Amino acid sequence: MRVGILGLGSYIPEKIVTNYDFEKFLDTSDEWIRTRTGIIERRFADETQATSDLATIAAKRALEDANLRPEDIDLIIVGTNSPDTLYPATACLVQDKIGASGKCGAFDLQAGCTGWVYAAVTGLQFIKTGAYKHVLVIGAEVITRLMDPTDKGTYVLFGDGAGAAVLGEVEEGGIIDFELYADGSISEHLVYPAGGSRKPFSEEVLKERGYYTKMNGNEVFKFSVREISRISKKLLDKTNTRLEDIDWFIPHQANVRIIQAGAEKLGIPMEKVVVTIDKFGNSSAATVPVSLDIIYKEGKLKKGDLVLMVSFGAGMTSGAMLMRW
Ligand code: UT7
Repeated sequence: MRVGILGLGSYIPEKIVTNYDFEKFLDTSDEWIRTRTGIIERRFADETQATSDLATIAAKRALEDANLRPEDIDLIIVGTNSPDTLYPATACLVQDKIGASGKCGAFDLQAGCTGWVYAAVTGLQFIKTGAYKHVLVIGAEVITRLMDPTDKGTYVLFGDGAGAAVLGEVEEGGIIDFELYADGSISEHLVYPAGGSRKPFSEEVLKERGYYTKMNGNEVFKFSVREISRISKKLLDKTNTRLEDIDWFIPHQANVRIIQAGAEKLGIPMEKVVVTIDKFGNSSAATVPVSLDIIYKEGKLKKGDLVLMVSFGAGMTSGAMLMRW
């Protein structure tokens, strides 16, 4: 059975935040951010919006694109690191907001920025086993709220957004294979420290600013460059795919230097690499489905194109998926 994407949708909030906006309150500059990260601007969610709101818009667009109704969905998986609340799952809120309450299962999946790739691979299994027909897989974040506005090393990097895909049986093409990986022994490099059972919110957490993300940027950078090429090569070898047969390479958008170094190590020319970080920053689990939707909506993605998607993030996790459009 071939399983692929029946419909795609994304949503990026309207509010644009430029590098110059950060110069007003951080010891940073447009020049530094642009040259060290490739980011020119990013989008921040409106104060009234939480992750489920962004995810819902993307999901509705994906359903419309697939020409399916909410009740046709058998399962909703939301890959996110910035759920509306620790519980209930954001996927349950999305289920209600798209009008599918009580009609299917719904859960969140937390795999750092690799969340959507993990979610898509998970959804794929439910369809391949014959258990379900249609699975809605979403990558959605209002991750900027988890970043410290006084930390120039993280605050300038992130943006908000959501991307969604409806998975189901396809006649041609589809997801060919995947790789998932995690190394928990280096998880300390990217952490949201408080609010869980290890360190519940307290006066101490407030003093330590433990309610904001802590990142060891250099270590994450090295892991990311290594993982892009390692996990992609593994997947290409496993599927007997030649590098030159790849039409589109969609890496997680964390830093344009990571993307360039990863593509170079792998041997993929930049013309085939989808780059959206300049406009949207790093929207964590949303970057891959948003980037895929962008080349789809722009009409660049053609039937039969071979697409390699690869992501990496907190965990530390990484994952890759090869798909024929
Ligand atoms: O989605 C997955 C998670 N995220 C990532 O994958 C991010 C991975 N890491 C990175 O992208 C990069 O490591 C950063 C963009 C975070 C940092 O870039 P870098 O080139 O590795 O800089 P650095 O951390 O080595 O710092 C170099 C200098 C430091 O100053 P000193 O100590 O040399 O005087 C920093 O304080 O750059 C300084 N710096 C900044 N200066 C201006 C760090 N951030 C900024 C900033 N503006 N925003």
